[in-house]
Amino acid sequence: MPADRRAPHVLLLGGTAEARALAAVLVDREVSVVSSLAGRVARPRQPLGEVRIGGFGGVAGLVSTLRDNDFTHLVDATHPFAITMRRHAVEAAHEVALPVVRLARPGWRDLPDAAAWTWVQGYDEARRQAERLGSRPFITSGRQTLGHYLSWDDRPVLVRVVEPLEEPVPASWQVRLDRGPFSVDDERELMRSAGIDVLITKDSGGAYTSAKLQAASELGIPVVVVARPDPPEGLQELSDIDEVLAWLDAGASATA
Ligand SMILES: NC(=O)c1ccc[n+]([C@@H]2O[C@H](COP(=O)([O-])OP(=O)(O)OC[C@H]3O[C@@H](n4cnc5c(N)ncnc54)[C@H](OP(=O)(O)O)[C@@H]3O)[C@@H](O)[C@H]2O)c1
Repeated sequence: MPADRRAPHVLLLGGTAEARALAAVLVDREVSVVSSLAGRVARPRQPLGEVRIGGFGGVAGLVSTLRDNDFTHLVDATHPFAITMRRHAVEAAHEVALPVVRLARPGWRDLPDAAAWTWVQGYDEARRQAERLGSRPFITSGRQTLGHYLSWDDRPVLVRVVEPLEEPVPASWQVRLDRGPFSVDDERELMRSAGIDVLITKDSGGAYTSAKLQAASELGIPVVVVARPDPPEGLQELSDIDEVLAWLDAGASATA
């Protein structure tokens, strides 16, 4: 497909710190950008510039949004585990023949302690491995994953989530509402005071929520990490904002 030489008008799928950082840079450069948020969080951190909120209504809805608003580029900067949105982005961009790219923060696989963690492919496996490693878990894999751990109604469980839970959890669980960034000192104190003996997380990556990993390492607490899902085929993945800017400047001729 020939490069699109119209002034860029970017639809930025967000809900992450990286997306907010990219929106700020684009606004600063006077690049036309609309950030899109899913609308799951009651008081989301607002990106700079124009914002739209709520699902598109599947691939068909996203296709209409892209067409009706004459977007020239689609940037998927959603969370590494937001796999449905990512798949829809690829399919819709393909249908509209629009350049699409993914901005993804680096994962935690390359951190020095990563080799010592127990890496798993899903949340049921995370539960099984955590049962082997401890009896007082700290779950930080997200509110949508808690259903996988509900059989733990016989032990103290500490859960941290950003938004209040909609479903009940066992009486032995303590639910903490909080969102990053967190400091290593606070994470160490939290895990120590709660007597945590195994940490469960997913490979969200980045520095925003990584302090718990260092704190666990310092306390000798084993860590179970759910690995990232594979990226959709053919979706170019960039890891920093300068690369996205270069992609836009180059005319972004790549489609999914
Ligand atoms: N999954 C996580 O652990 C996590 C952590 C932190 C932040 N987030 C952020 O929270 C949002 C939802 O995450 P998820 O895991 O629930 O996503 P998901 O399962 O991939 O997406 C489910 C549906 O939510 C809507 N959606 C998701 N992201 C959207 C966006 N940026 N703008 C408009 N609609 C969006 C889409 O609805 P339609 O089909 O109706 O278009 C999508 O099909 C994402 O924006 C993500 O960046 C997720």
